[in-house]
Amino acid sequence: MEIIREISGIRKIIKTARENGQSVGFVPTMGFLHEGHLSLLRRARKENDLVVLSIFVNPLQFGVNEDFGEYPRDLERDAALSEENGCDIIFSPMAKEMYPHGYATYVDVQRLTEGLCGASRPGHFRGVTTVVTKLFNIVTPDRAYFGQKDAQQAMVIKRMTEDLNMDLEIIVLRTVRETDGLAMSSRNANLTTAERSSAPVLFQCLKQAEEQISSGERNPSTIIDRITKTIENEPLTKIDYVSIVDSTELKEVTIIKDRVLIALAVRFGKTRLIDNIIVEVEKCSVSCANQKSTAPQSPMQTSTTKAV
Ligand code: PAJ
Repeated sequence: MEIIREISGIRKIIKTARENGQSVGFVPTMGFLHEGHLSLLRRARKENDLVVLSIFVNPLQFGVNEDFGEYPRDLERDAALSEENGCDIIFSPMAKEMYPHGYATYVDVQRLTEGLCGASRPGHFRGVTTVVTKLFNIVTPDRAYFGQKDAQQAMVIKRMTEDLNMDLEIIVLRTVRETDGLAMSSRNANLTTAERSSAPVLFQCLKQAEEQISSGERNPSTIIDRITKTIENEPLTKIDYVSIVDSTELKEVTIIKDRVLIALAVRFGKTRLIDNIIVEVEKCSVSCANQKSTAPQSPMQTSTTKAV
């Protein structure tokens, strides 16, 4: 496995791979890898001849008061994990090459970026879509892999690739969790012991919400109120948002039907964590009617979309 820092270096490798008829799979990350990232890498390994993982803590997607400086970094550890999980190339560019003096071009996806994290982190998605476009232009992958953990990000990127006629397939994989349900995240490393023991409350609330929907609750406010109260009862928490939105336009719903995304963002001390589940209303009531006494089925969806 090679670590490449320069854009010209990765371009050369991709050119040779293309000349040899190889397909290219790409996993963009900000590093400090965990099982969530590695699940994307292993899937990319299965489906492509050459597998590229990028590590770039993208300054453009962090607000002025956000944790760009504190974002965990460890290239040596990431390199070892990447190699064990089938990566061929780590591309880890320097900010000054990605955004040189005079840089002036941005990619902005509208509507889908208005709510959820878009509302609480202004400019965040513009930073994400700009850097992902640049990375796609540099790596020119056939397939790129993203996690459902960042559900809004995955939808925004799919929209962008469709709208801008980018010739690649976007593959979205399910959220990988710790055994206590906490969604894996590089930011979990910044939690104190007390915050870490509170953090599983997020997934517990999402599962409880799913159970409420299975039992027939269709009023989003009732579910949001319950989640809000449960999280507020945990010490060290501050809610950014708890939302129930439709799963295509990400607009808040007034009644729960079809397929909804329940998404939340909560601060534990200085660390902001996000999580979500998708609940398919019909499927959920059928599966629960059939198995009243057993644990609810996982609502997580693995969706695969071909961007045309
Ligand atoms: P990062 O947070 O490092 O995540 C990289 C990819 O891993 C994203 O697609 C994210 O959704 C996925 N991922 C993170 N945690 C996951 C989990 N627990 N289970 C499954 N997948 C998970 O997301 C970014 O970086 C950046 O915004 C990026 C797209 C690289 C642009 O800078």
